[in-house]
Amino acid sequence: MNIDYQLLSPELRRTAPLEQCDNLGFGQQRTDHIFLMDYKDGQWIAPRIVPYQALQLAPGAMALHYGQSVFEGAKAFLHQDNEIYTFRLDKNCQRLNVSASILSMPSVPEDMQMSAIHALLDVERLWMPRANGASMYIRPFLFATEDNLSVRASNSYTYAVMLSPSGSYYPKGMTTSLKLLISNTYHRAVSGGTGAAKAAGNYAASLRAQKQAASFSADQVLYLDASNTYLEEVGAMNHFHITKSGHLVIPEFTDTILKSITSQSILALAARLSDELGLKPIQQKIALTEFLDDIKSGEIIEAGGFGTAAVTASVGHYILENGEHYTVGNGEIGKLTLALHQFYSDMQQGRIKAPSGWLQ
Ligand code: COI
Repeated sequence: MNIDYQLLSPELRRTAPLEQCDNLGFGQQRTDHIFLMDYKDGQWIAPRIVPYQALQLAPGAMALHYGQSVFEGAKAFLHQDNEIYTFRLDKNCQRLNVSASILSMPSVPEDMQMSAIHALLDVERLWMPRANGASMYIRPFLFATEDNLSVRASNSYTYAVMLSPSGSYYPKGMTTSLKLLISNTYHRAVSGGTGAAKAAGNYAASLRAQKQAASFSADQVLYLDASNTYLEEVGAMNHFHITKSGHLVIPEFTDTILKSITSQSILALAARLSDELGLKPIQQKIALTEFLDDIKSGEIIEAGGFGTAAVTASVGHYILENGEHYTVGNGEIGKLTLALHQFYSDMQQGRIKAPSGWLQ
């Protein structure tokens, strides 16, 4: 479907490509326009691309009070043929609707989302960064706008898409491994809660766990389930680890885990990863005690996180709240993790073939 949108202020369009620049940062830059569409009386109305500007929102807008606010993070890449390719954008559009349903918000038809994002990318085509590892980070978001203080689902919403030309998440390449605090005190989600949604509130709730991590000089938190038995998430990413026998283990997706599109893609690429990197992606519940024993015995040789922003992160150290410390391998960045990062980035950036339909 082609969305019939209005482009306001076309004069704001860039007339020259973005200067090649290695230090764009991640999520810092903005383009000139934003896509907006409203939901009223059960209908999506007024799709428009307008100058990037402050939004008009009633002080009583329900998103501000009761937290009906969800978002997505996707990426588009400029390939050698000078065309823009989004990577598995359909998955992000589907997931936005999963999040919306968990927060009792209306869904945004996937073809409308795809078409809105492509329209905005086309308007902002000259903002596409060209440096190696750079991408256009796409941030769609959906929030409640009704001016009402009753605790119930809002009757009106706005769907928006903003873009951020971004450099590689690791500007100097992946050069250091992370240290994670395994928190018994803070939990990201409980069964029956909103953990499977990319809900703004989940990220707000993660901030004090992040503060706890910092007090242990750790970079992020490794979240456990509410009974402190199983591994769940790594900060804003999914967990993974690699065993001596080449198993790449990802926690089973439950309603307390956000289904990372990177993890899902790694699982879908199992045959190729086995042939090319000798890795066998599998999903299973990961018990903390076994995980720590396997790090100690050397059965686990690498560990990390998967997410759209970083693609992969390498974790070299885990620390318990009692101060006990576990080092994965020699604590340095994992070689297989690096190879995986390279493989995935090459696929996104068109240097190696992606499965049919993944570049959209
Ligand atoms: C991701 O990498 O997928 C994220 O969600 C990170 C984002 C919140 C910056």
